Amino acid sequence: MAAPDLDTLVALAKRRGFVFGSSEIYGGFASTWDYGPLGAELIRNVKEAWWRRVVMAREDVVGLNASILMHPRVWEASGHVENFNDPLVECPECRRRFRQDDVPDGTCPHDGATLTDPRRFNTMFSTQVGPVQESAATAYLRPETAQAIFVNFKNVLDSTRVRLPFGIAQIGKAFRNEITTGNFIFRSREFEQMELEYFVEPGQDAAAYQAWIDERLAWWQEFGLDSSRLRLRPHGDDELSHYSKGTTDIEYEFPFGWGELEGIANRTDFDLARHAEASGETLTVFDEASKSHIRPYVVEPASGVDRAALAFLADAYTEQDVRGEKRVFLNLDPRLAPIKAAIFPLARNKPDLVKLARDVRARLAASWPVFYDAGGSIGRRYARQDEAGTPFGITVDYESLDDHAVTVRHRDTMDQDRVAVDDLHGFVAERLAW
Ligand code: GAP
Repeated sequence: MAAPDLDTLVALAKRRGFVFGSSEIYGGFASTWDYGPLGAELIRNVKEAWWRRVVMAREDVVGLNASILMHPRVWEASGHVENFNDPLVECPECRRRFRQDDVPDGTCPHDGATLTDPRRFNTMFSTQVGPVQESAATAYLRPETAQAIFVNFKNVLDSTRVRLPFGIAQIGKAFRNEITTGNFIFRSREFEQMELEYFVEPGQDAAAYQAWIDERLAWWQEFGLDSSRLRLRPHGDDELSHYSKGTTDIEYEFPFGWGELEGIANRTDFDLARHAEASGETLTVFDEASKSHIRPYVVEPASGVDRAALAFLADAYTEQDVRGEKRVFLNLDPRLAPIKAAIFPLARNKPDLVKLARDVRARLAASWPVFYDAGGSIGRRYARQDEAGTPFGITVDYESLDDHAVTVRHRDTMDQDRVAVDDLHGFVAERLAW
């Protein structure tokens, strides 16, 4: 079906508790977002799906969870202080500011005035560390999680048995003082990244680069994104980051157009070389075969949790005509769905039935987020869970007291199965297996 428009998605996200504007009771705070009860589960599942595939399933990748604040010299060595700039242009009339590439014709989209010449604007957020306001205590909020991986390269080598090729993966917050934000959670100033630095012998980098492009594209498809809305876009030489020899973006066709979901970059040995020089540490690995120390090249698949959540929501949004009525549901992959099953007792005033429904809830709640809903007509209850993307609606009815079975209704097809209460956990588990 056609992609929903962004307003429809934003409204559903708010109505059902996926995403709220930050600080709303104070009028909101520009381009910052909070994940509500369903959103918190969704992004937990996105990160789990990534971690399982990129770290757990592999013998050659280990994880890291580093601090956001790092020594300021990290960002000098990495080139971010010098190069992490966006070209900023300004309207002399209304004083609005834009990224130059967002206004290629050089005129203000609001009043048509000719914009100023571009100047370089560093998008790193700086902050003061410690109680004394002096320049020595200036630190940055990391604009990418990757640098913590390079800085811990030696620690990981010394504390694990990794051998080339190997990767270090990390999920965590990153911050950029973007000139323009927008398109809901697509571009904000605080976001979360899922990054892998995959170290290889120089000369093996081209093959690893291609292998990670293929692997990452397959992951997005496996978790439900429509292949016709995914494409690869290699960067032109003029748009490569300061550290990259080659970058390919995985783009998704969002409701507002094509946008980057993930970038896969060949960062060569740029970062390790810069940190070795600046810190004086030897950031190499010993190669038994050649009995020499080599500085690996690195291939980096880097994606965003928030963009992933937006893409999965947009792709899952489905409208259907059911006997003249519009039905809206999210056909999220069950592994990504925030709530796995909803339990609906058909009566509230029959103690035996309520007891059984509570027992069904408890059996499933030990393993997954589930929702107990005794309110309103069964049709309303289904509709609420359809919009939440809940794959299984479980009704405990009068017959359940006799046959100790329940009706399981499938979100996408609305088909129903009668399942014995004792088999229910296995029935759901089978359909949620990673
Ligand atoms: N370490 C490489 C790196 O940071 P990037 O392409 O600038 O590369 C990686 O960022 C991913 O982080 C992007 O593909 C995107 O998913 C996400 N991302 C970057 N800036 C973002 C922003 N302002 N808001 C939301 N997500 C962002």
